[in-house]
Amino acid sequence: MHILTLQFFFVLCIPPQDEQLKGVVGASGGSMIIAGTTEVLLNHFVKGMDPLSSVLAPRVYHKLTPNVVQYENWTTVYGEHFELPAEVRAFLQKRGHDLEGIAGGTICQFIVQDLEAAEGNKLMGKLVGVSDPRKGGLPAGY
Ligand SMILES: *[C@@H]1O[C@H](CO)[C@@H](O)[C@H](O)[C@H]1NC(C)=O
Repeated sequence: MHILTLQFFFVLCIPPQDEQLKGVVGASGGSMIIAGTTEVLLNHFVKGMDPLSSVLAPRVYHKLTPNVVQYENWTTVYGEHFELPAEVRAFLQKRGHDLEGIAGGTICQFIVQDLEAAEGNKLMGKLVGVSDPRKGGLPAGY
């Protein structure tokens, strides 16, 4: 399990349907945590992206004050580059948003439980864990 070392930490459990937990997301990143974890959840549970792509997707943040949309544009110490695509930036600008690139943001860890794979046995299922490459590390199960 990847150890989170930043000061702020937040874990959100997806409300269970049929009494089964769907997923858990946690993040570090202070005031950006709510936005970052929400984006990961929406990517997977609404947009249907796979868990890894849901975490990899470049994120945007809006704190209302200042009235600026911050978008990821940075290369981590591990050499991975995260940048909101130009067409998404253009879309946001067209809608009147002021944009600001930031080098950083939230670091999200995401676990999805897929009980469909259980074939009827509710005590068995598939867990998919994603450790955000923005910080390195890797998921491990024990
Ligand atoms: C992204 O950051 C790099 C390095 O700071 C900068 O040269 C580039 O213009 C930025 N691009 C965008 C779209 O913000």
